[in-house]
Amino acid sequence: VLSSEDRQLIQATWTKLGPHMDKIGGEALTRLFCTFPQTKTYFPHFDLSPNSKDVQHHGQKVVKALDSAIKHLDNIRGTLADLSDLHAYNLRVDPVNFKLLAKCFHVVLASHLGGEFNASIYLAYDKLFHCVADVLSEKYR
Ligand code: HEM
Repeated sequence: VLSSEDRQLIQATWTKLGPHMDKIGGEALTRLFCTFPQTKTYFPHFDLSPNSKDVQHHGQKVVKALDSAIKHLDNIRGTLADLSDLHAYNLRVDPVNFKLLAKCFHVVLASHLGGEFNASIYLAYDKLFHCVADVLSEKYR
């Protein structure tokens, strides 16, 4: 559960990432496909070369979803309901992959926030990614 301190840290750092918002999703996905190549099997129809147009464009969609979750931290479940159906019923993404993507986002966040990225911020985003992954994979149960 996100504490009020976690929420403040997420919202403050997310705002700071503003100028990089268009590229952090693509960077996280590029890391995902490079570090965990098995994740590429979900995207056979994409050009998965690093930072390709497909990867960047998809990254922007993912970040947009995270952005709406961050704007509605009290109602992540409702905010991502459609995506939950999509990932469970249509895409059938194995939930383990959400953990892998979260790892990649942590590295990208750290790379943009620099020295500001500390243990408390890591913890706050870790909880956020857990909440998002829970929502996106709960329809499996
Ligand atoms: C599609 C968000 C994790 C596989 C999408 C879309 C969004 C999204 C917004 C586009 C939906 C649309 O076009 O209507 C997220 C978020 C994630 C996440 C917020 C976790 C933080 C994952 C993971 C995988 C995955 C871990 C698999 C490794 C896919 C696939 C599509 C998709 C295959 C369809 C791509 C296409 O054909 O356009 N996701 N996703 N997602 N996602 Fe996720």
